[in-house]
Amino acid sequence: MSLSIVTTELTDAQFSALSRLVKQVAGINLHEGKRELVKSRLNKRLRHLGLRDFNQYIEYLAADTTAGELTAMLDAISTNLTSFFRENAHFEFLASSVLPAWGASARPLRAWSAGCSSGEEAYTLAICLQENLPKPAGRDVRILATDLSTRVLNKAAAGVYDADRLESMPAALRGRYFTPVLRDGQRCFQVSDGIRRMVTFGRLNLMEAWPMRGPFDLIFCRNVMIYFDKATQGALVNRFHDLLASGGLLFIGHSESLTGIQHRFRYVQPTVYRKP
Ligand SMILES: C[S@@+](CC[C@H](N)C(=O)[O-])C[C@H]1O[C@@H](n2cnc3c(N)ncnc32)[C@H](O)[C@@H]1O
Repeated sequence: MSLSIVTTELTDAQFSALSRLVKQVAGINLHEGKRELVKSRLNKRLRHLGLRDFNQYIEYLAADTTAGELTAMLDAISTNLTSFFRENAHFEFLASSVLPAWGASARPLRAWSAGCSSGEEAYTLAICLQENLPKPAGRDVRILATDLSTRVLNKAAAGVYDADRLESMPAALRGRYFTPVLRDGQRCFQVSDGIRRMVTFGRLNLMEAWPMRGPFDLIFCRNVMIYFDKATQGALVNRFHDLLASGGLLFIGHSESLTGIQHRFRYVQPTVYRKP
């Protein structure tokens, strides 16, 4: 007996309706190139819910007052690519040009990884601070890490990664900050307690109101704004500015820029901006 999975078609009108909803709720632009991905990932939601077609799914979303399915849908379609020490120039810049001076102060240091995916960015930042901020031991250093997707946040909070995710990391850092563990018989690595204690994960849709008051010294929002249009990027960047301390830094992804956005930041180097 052969088992075949039936794929439900996604019409133009249905794709438009879903794209409008995703844009309105999460700011994410689902352009035509994403159509096949949306169709296949949401087909899994249809099967899970026992729905016949996308019209039923759209009705289900509209009737779901708990917004549980909206969260599940955003989980299903979000792109979560990330890695440890991704775009390492940012961490090298912090280590060489920022943290030595900031180390002279004993005041609390606050950082935010906005759009943290499965946690690699926030943990890399914690390791970078631990390694390069003079005398961090007695200092109150905390990182807030937020994302839209509960699926990736669960991974992030567990802090357990497949061995191949750590391959590009210097062995000395892996030895200092990770412990080998077994998961389903597979050798993995867990982030050390000390580093995990520095990071707090939480769900936050960047398009909604933010409960934090700041100020933050560092905000990382990398490879998130690529999914937003210019107007949404502009509004977001200005909200980041409001939440940063004077002298605080904003880091964006290598393929992103603030060109064409009205903002109050000073340019430091490609993809790094300072609040005067
Ligand atoms: C490609 S990952 C980038 C992860 C990490 N910042 C990096 O550069 O490696 C983009 C992340 O942004 C999140 N995201 C997209 N739209 C969002 C929104 N409106 N609010 C919060 N997070 C969002 C996605 O869930 C995803 O985990």
